Amino acid sequence: MLHIPVMPAESISLLAVRTGGLYLDCTAGLGGHTALIAQQLVSGTVIANDRDSVSLEMARQNTAEWKDRIRFHQGPFSTLAKAVAEVAMGKLDGLLADLGVSRYQLTDPLRGFSFMSDGPLDMRMDQSTGMTAADLVNYTDEKTLADLIFHLGEERRARKVARAIVRARPIRSTLHLADVVLRAVPRTGRLHPATKTFMALRMEVNDEPAELDRLLQIGPDLLKPGGRMVVISFMSIDDRKVKEAFKALGRDGRATILTKHPLQPSDEETGRNPAARSAKLRALELN
Ligand SMILES: C[S@@+](CC[C@H](N)C(=O)[O-])C[C@H]1O[C@@H](n2cnc3c(N)ncnc32)[C@H](O)[C@@H]1O
Repeated sequence: MLHIPVMPAESISLLAVRTGGLYLDCTAGLGGHTALIAQQLVSGTVIANDRDSVSLEMARQNTAEWKDRIRFHQGPFSTLAKAVAEVAMGKLDGLLADLGVSRYQLTDPLRGFSFMSDGPLDMRMDQSTGMTAADLVNYTDEKTLADLIFHLGEERRARKVARAIVRARPIRSTLHLADVVLRAVPRTGRLHPATKTFMALRMEVNDEPAELDRLLQIGPDLLKPGGRMVVISFMSIDDRKVKEAFKALGRDGRATILTKHPLQPSDEETGRNPAARSAKLRALELN
C-alpha cells in the first residue's frame, strides 16, 4: 500500500531540500514524504522514523529505490535525538512531521482505529507496548473517560457517551463501541456520532498531545542554523500548539517563521486526495 503524501510540493520546497544534506522524517508512515526527500538528495541522508514498525517496513519497501540514502529508526518523538545521533555527528538541515495516522492505519480493521469495519479495539501506533483502546474503555472510571472524550475529542456530549460505555462493558470491538455511542447520542450532522470519541481514544492511547509537545521542544534543538522545520497537522488542537510554539521561538529570536498563515492544500489536491482536506502546514527556519 502507498500513502499519498500530503502537500508534497509545499513540503519539499519549504524544507529547502538540497543534495548532501541531512534530513529527518519524524513520521515516515508508508514513506511518501521520505521518498520525495530522498529523490532530491543524490548524496546525503534522510532518516525515516516512525513508532509503528509495520508502517516502517512498508516504508522500507516503498522507498527501496533510494535505499542508499535512507536510514530507518523506530520510536516515538522522544527518541528522535537518538535517531539522529545514530546516523551523524552533526545537526539536521531539515525536519518534517506529518502528524496523525496514515490511511493504512485508519483502514486496516486489525489496527482498530476505524468504526467503518469491525476489529479489535487496539489503536496503538506501536503495537508492541502500552495500553489499548479496549483497556481504556473497559477499565477507566466514568469521569476520567468523560473528561478525555470532552477535552481530546472536543465532544460536547462526552458525559452521555462515557455513561453509555460504562454500562455496556465489556466492549470488545470497534463496531461494538461505535454502536454503543450511536445509541447514546443520536446523529445530528454529517459526522458519525462516534467520530469524536474514536479520535479522543486514539489520542489518549498514543499520548498524542504530550508527544507533540516533545516534538516541538526537541525539534528546534536538532536543527543547525538555517535548518528548516515543517509540521503538517490535521486537527485544530494540534495546529494551535504548533502555531504557539513557533511564535514563541520567533519572539525569542531563535527562529524565523516562514508561514505567516498556515498553508493549506489546493482544491486540486483535495479533489485528488480528500484525506488532505484539513491539513495545515507551518514552517520555520532556525536562526
Ligand atoms: C500521516 S502519517 C505519515 C504519512 C507519511 N508522511 C507518508 O507520506 O507516507 C503519520 C505517521 O506518524 C506516525 N506517528 C504519529 N505520532 C508519532 C509519534 N509520536 N512518534 C513517531 N511516529 C508517530 C504514525 O505511526 C503514522 O505512521
